[in-house]
Amino acid sequence: MRYFSTRDTKREKAYALKDAAFMGLAPDGGLFMPEYIPQVDLDKVAALSASSYREMATYLASLFFGDDIPADRLEAIVSKAYDFECPLVNLASGVNVLELFHGPTYAFKDFGARFMGGMLGYLSEGSEKLTVLTATSGDTGSAVAAGFHNVPGVEVVVLYPQGKVSPLQQAQMTTLGGNIRPLCVRGCFDDCQALVKAVFNDVDFRRDHYVTSANSINILRWIPQSFYYFHAWASWKAMGNDGAPDIVVPSGNYGNITAGMLAAAMGMPVRRFIAGANANDVIPEFLHTGVYRPRPSVQTVANAMDVGAPSNYERMMCLYDDDFQRLVSNMEGYSYSDDQIKKAIAGIYSRHGYLSDPHAAVGYLAYMDSKADGFYLATAHAAKFGEIIAAAFDENSSLVGGISSDKVLVLPEGLAAAMQKEKVYTVIDNDLEQLETFVAENC
Ligand SMILES: Cc1ncc(COP(=O)(O)O)c(C=O)c1O
Repeated sequence: MRYFSTRDTKREKAYALKDAAFMGLAPDGGLFMPEYIPQVDLDKVAALSASSYREMATYLASLFFGDDIPADRLEAIVSKAYDFECPLVNLASGVNVLELFHGPTYAFKDFGARFMGGMLGYLSEGSEKLTVLTATSGDTGSAVAAGFHNVPGVEVVVLYPQGKVSPLQQAQMTTLGGNIRPLCVRGCFDDCQALVKAVFNDVDFRRDHYVTSANSINILRWIPQSFYYFHAWASWKAMGNDGAPDIVVPSGNYGNITAGMLAAAMGMPVRRFIAGANANDVIPEFLHTGVYRPRPSVQTVANAMDVGAPSNYERMMCLYDDDFQRLVSNMEGYSYSDDQIKKAIAGIYSRHGYLSDPHAAVGYLAYMDSKADGFYLATAHAAKFGEIIAAAFDENSSLVGGISSDKVLVLPEGLAAAMQKEKVYTVIDNDLEQLETFVAENC
């Protein structure tokens, strides 16, 4: 399988997997796409999914990566990556939620980051030591750190802004040790991102140091996200449902929902894709007006979806051959205010006794408003957003019978354990020389 940029419409420049994965973004600024979409054997997927997520994922991964990696190595990577559950939970008649938060960092990013960690380890074998440099505002850093932890031949440097990540997020990034090297930068997230970019632009430094990034648009993070859609579809069918489900996805950068669209292009039945957005409603607006108007993001309580210029717009259009009519016949979008999201967190608890993080709550709202029949995705564990859950319960106390959220919100064992461990990190200024010295001396 080769890969092309979404902007290379004439398909003039093909890239091997290793090049596409190490570059992340194509040189023309586009996103990588596989040269063709493999078609699946749905009966086989349903049977494999019923017995083992790992076996299903190995089969699906082999359709893309089978020529780039021996079967036994791919199987080992998938098995190591997916040692956690991915249940489709029935909340009420016709309301189902796919829980994607049972991995080590309690968010859906584990599905992409752990697969990518294993694959990059394999692809960099025989090369000099590889350094993965990643800037984070909180969540990505912990997923990448956990995904690449103990991958031989790979060092990970995670840059996060001092005082601007939650204590939980900091604990997740700074307690792993080994090949994970957290850097606490005296600056903001944009400074962290600019520092990483500056290293990539420093040709002299890169001559001596083998560096790559691991951001969410990377083809090795994006493709494995399509696998859980097959599992959800198979689980939904196994519950006795027929036909094609509606699939509702809380969306920000639109990587997750486009991975679902990839699954559909591979042959998985889907009636509608429904995007749930917070106040950053660029895509719902686009679906209504036909005008794509990227703009600065606004801050919301579902902050991982605070994206004003979703990168995966290009992948979405590519999957629908730039045909707006075809897209809108298959996709809808809804957007919600902070108050609506908090009210939904309380409402879902009172109706179903089920705790939702703010992102999943957006999924639930869009599921209900679109009168969906299928499932929505829950992308993070509620405990990761304890303060917002607390505010949601306080502000809607009549809905939850006056109960306070700390009576019902339990910190999962892994998060509680990370909070207790010693945090090891290095503080640097917002200074390229300090960063490069750190990489040169430690990686
Ligand atoms: C918890 C959570 N939910 C939803 C999203 C949105 O996913 P996407 O950016 O792929 O649309 C993110 C993105 O980081 C997230 O962290």
